[in-house]
Parts: sequence; C-alpha cells; structure tokens
Amino acid sequence: MNERAGWSPVGVGAPGPRIRPDEARLLREIIESYCGLHVGLDSAFFLERRVRPRLEALGMSSYGDYYHFLKYDPGGAAELVELVERLTTHETYFFRESYQLEAFREDVLPQLVERARRRKRLLLWSAGCSTGEEVYTLAILLRETPELRDFRVRVVGSDISRRVVARARQAYFGASSFRATDPVVRRRYFQEVDGRFRLRDDIRSMCSFGQLNLLDTERYRILGTCDAIFCRNVLMYLSKSARARIIDGFYDTLHPGGYLFLGHSESLLHVSTRFEIVQLDKDLVYRKPSEEAP
Ligand SMILES: C[S@@+](CC[C@H](N)C(=O)[O-])C[C@H]1O[C@@H](n2cnc3c(N)ncnc32)[C@H](O)[C@@H]1O
Repeated sequence: MNERAGWSPVGVGAPGPRIRPDEARLLREIIESYCGLHVGLDSAFFLERRVRPRLEALGMSSYGDYYHFLKYDPGGAAELVELVERLTTHETYFFRESYQLEAFREDVLPQLVERARRRKRLLLWSAGCSTGEEVYTLAILLRETPELRDFRVRVVGSDISRRVVARARQAYFGASSFRATDPVVRRRYFQEVDGRFRLRDDIRSMCSFGQLNLLDTERYRILGTCDAIFCRNVLMYLSKSARARIIDGFYDTLHPGGYLFLGHSESLLHVSTRFEIVQLDKDLVYRKPSEEAP
C-alpha cells in the first residue's frame, strides 16, 4: 500500500488515501470547467468517496496523481467523462412535476400550435434528459393533442452521459419510472416484456437522442430552432457561470415566443433577465419575448 502520510479509514469503506484541500480544489476546478458541475467547498468527503474507486481502478495512490492524469494524460479526457458519470444524478421518471406538464398542455401548447400553424412543425428539446422519460412524456402529450395531427412534431433529448442516452434510445423501462404515471397511460403506450416496459414504436419514432455537454453552446444549433426547451433538475447542480452560459444558449435556440421550463426548485433569478416570466394558472414559466427589445 501507499507510503504517503494521510492514509486512514474513510467512512465504513476500506482504508484509502485522504483527499487534501488543494487536491479537492483542483479536482473541483477541472470538473466545473468541463461540465459546469458545482462541487461545493464542503464536499471533500463526497469527492473522496466518488473518486476513490477510480484511483483504485487506475492503480494510483493519491488524488494529486489522479488530477495530473485527468489534466495531462492522453487518457485524461475519457477519464473525466467516467468521473462525471460518478458525480451526477440521473434520477428521472415519467410525468415528473405533473402540474407543470398540465400547464404546458393546457396553456402553452395551444399558443405554440397557433404560432407554428404555417410551418406545421414543432420541436421540443429536453436538455439533460437522462434515460429519456421526460422526452417520451412530452411525445405522449403531443400525440394526445389532436390539433397537431397534420404537424411534423419532434422531441429531441440530449445528455452529457453517453450511457443514459444509449438507454434512452432503447426505450425499455422498469416499474420505478412509472411512479407518477396513470396505469391507463402506461397500458396504452407500453408493452410489458419480462417485467419491464417497452414504449410503442410510433412514440419512439417521434423522438431522437444525442450526447451533448450543455456547456458546448456552439453545438446547440445542430438541433434547429426550438419551440420549447425543458431543462428540469439539471441547472441546480451547475455553477452560476455555467447556468448563465447555458441560458444564453437556450435563448438563442428558441423561436421568439418560445418557452423555457425549469425544475420546480430552479429559477433564472440572478442568472438572466432576457426571458419574460409568465404566470400561468398552474405554474410560472419563462418565455423568450416575441419582439427583441430595440
Ligand atoms: C437529475 S437528471 C434530470 C432528468 C430530467 N430532466 C428530469 O427532470 O427528470 C440530470 C441530468 O443532467 C445531466 N447533466 C448534468 N450536467 C450536464 C451537462 N453539463 N450537459 C448535459 N447534461 C448534463 C446528467 O447527466 C443527468 O442525466
């Protein structure tokens, strides 16, 4: 084992190296500049627990060595992806935050349909879609909107994690994904296969997925111009500067009059003033102004 000072048991796990404050700071910086993830100053223990298995896998004896590997080794970029996978939460489920989805369906969708009636196309983006439940929820809502029958509608999902994107494409889900789903809806759109649930092909075909780091705002344009963006339960984990950059990117990606939906504990307070706040019956949402200010 390692000769360095500072080896001691952490938590209930096996003994291992302790992370020093300077090592924690360097790791925080490299993580934040890669994907915006904000790892708080009081989170050395969190970092230690999540990073230690990677140290062991790579046969390294200190967090400083690991940092140097991330920063300077040709394999560092791939390792950073692996590390971020361990630091992010992919928690999601169908029909999450249903009051917001109702506000979308009842108040926002009719406006979007009206605005898009000439081009007969509608594009929604779920940014930070995890395993796809949000994307498919939106596709189901669109499918149940008769006014869209002769529209070309698409829902695009993106996430920084290739693993969750691959799972989203497969469209097989376990029971926990349906904790907020009406059983009638589940039966209508999913087929049970060996205790898991497979989404109907006609809904799948309305959706597409891609890997995208939201800090790469330059790449947003590959999506096309969106009518609404759902970025729920993503920004709350990111630094203020990352949030500001992403929100600017969203603004540029929306049609005038397009909507931005955030998670219930997220807001644009101190992040951006470019969006209008719209108070709907059941929720408060953000809208890109129809006319740019002169
Ligand atoms: C908690 S899930 C939210 C899923 C879904 N939007 C929902 O509300 O149910 C957060 C997702 O954001 C993704 N994420 C975090 N940072 C990201 C970044 N910089 N770019 C793209 N996706 C990111 C994570 O990989 C994770 O899958």
